[in-house]
Amino acid sequence: MKRTKIKELLKSDKVGTSFVVEGWVRTRRGNKNVSFIALNDGSTIHNIQIVADMSTFTEEQLKDVTTGACIRATGTLVASQGSGQAVEISLQEIKVHGTADPETFPLQKKGHSMEFLREIAHLRPRTNTFGAVLRLRHAMSFAIHKFYNDKGFFYMHTPIITGSDCEGAGQMFRVTTLDINDIPRDETGKIDFAKDFFGKETSLTVSGQLEGELGALALSEVYTFGPTFRAENSNTPRHLAEFWMIEPEVAFSDLNDNMDLAEEFLQYLIRYALENCSDDLKFLNDMFDKELISRLEFVINNRFERVDYTEAIKILEASDKKWEFPVSWGTDLQSEHERYLVEEHYKKPVILINYPRDIKAFYMKQNEDGKTVRAMDVLFPKIGEIIGGSQREENYDKLMARIQEMHIPEKDMWWYLDTRRYGSAPHSGFGLGFERLILFVSGMSNIRDVIPFPRTPRNAEF
Ligand code: 4AD
Ligand code: MG
Repeated sequence: MKRTKIKELLKSDKVGTSFVVEGWVRTRRGNKNVSFIALNDGSTIHNIQIVADMSTFTEEQLKDVTTGACIRATGTLVASQGSGQAVEISLQEIKVHGTADPETFPLQKKGHSMEFLREIAHLRPRTNTFGAVLRLRHAMSFAIHKFYNDKGFFYMHTPIITGSDCEGAGQMFRVTTLDINDIPRDETGKIDFAKDFFGKETSLTVSGQLEGELGALALSEVYTFGPTFRAENSNTPRHLAEFWMIEPEVAFSDLNDNMDLAEEFLQYLIRYALENCSDDLKFLNDMFDKELISRLEFVINNRFERVDYTEAIKILEASDKKWEFPVSWGTDLQSEHERYLVEEHYKKPVILINYPRDIKAFYMKQNEDGKTVRAMDVLFPKIGEIIGGSQREENYDKLMARIQEMHIPEKDMWWYLDTRRYGSAPHSGFGLGFERLILFVSGMSNIRDVIPFPRTPRNAEF
């Protein structure tokens, strides 16, 4: 007989029918008359209860059915005697696929700290919390593709290995096949990258945007959704060295259109989670963050506040908060400032626009004032920046001037500049950090706990 997923079985009304379930034992308890096995197969946060009548089974037959063991159980679906579930399985036959020695199995007990679970990232998917987070990641990925597909955007695959630094921050992981113990050098003593695999310096990408722009200037509306890498030494609960990013790029679109898209997109995703992941959200709400569901509902029911950077600085300067990082016009906002604006001042998500050009990337469209650019950051409660984006500079001369001012190597940028020489168009886009989205939707407090295998400074074990 084929197995039935626990998620399906819990909804089934076929009482009296025989089923096979397979999964991992969460607990087994009972007495000499009856034994209760709580089984989970990851299809849902809920377990199915399997009841073994100890007049048919011996203790010896069930001795390996311990927490963490993997079993296959055959039995009849019956209405449950206990509260907590409508149906349960009355056990007829059991096979242990894999035992889990109670002496050594790390998840023997409940209630481990998040820090401990990070040390056993290979096993933590078997906990309720990580099961919920992993199912949420899946649902959000699917919803992202659905949102853009329904709008007629095309999913574009941008390269992971690149020769350019989109954000210009120099925080890139080098990709090389050169022998690091015997690096080839030219006559002047410089590393001879002509001898490297690609014949030039290459790195892991920090963003798919530049290539996304090439796509938008041909297909009008594209998006990327892929891994990005940043070698920044930030040990914060919101930074990873490897994270996933969604980057829509839209031709014939200005900063206002870009803000509209970002707001509609985030609200769509959160609504999707509320409608499709209610069991997992309820679990996370009860376990970690009692305000999670109300916070999610708040975000879909309120327009985001759109505020000029200059105005935000005035608000921050006027507040009597003691800032860890001082703030004045021209400084980049830190998470403490972003969260103050969102959580204390406006009390709703904020889109900050028109940042000083000196703290933003070279590609952003320059405003008439000569000081600011058409940048936008979407700021969320508990998170701070969740989206960063802008209208792009489509004028060749202005873009070129900026590239030279910022000493960006022109030889790496000729292909990007070509789009401004041939059929340039106004266009805009943004990047949503996927793990920051999952942080917000799951209510977890550390980004290391919303990706299966986090990469952070000094951590790449699993
Ligand atoms: O603001 P960022 O650096 O923008 C870009 O990369 C643009 N090229 C995007 C675009 O316009 N197409 O990054 C975008 C988002 C941030 O708002 C944040 O959510 C996330 O990516 N992010 C990170 N997430 C986790 N760990 C990190 N180290 C992150 N750095 C950025
Ligand atoms: Mg940013």
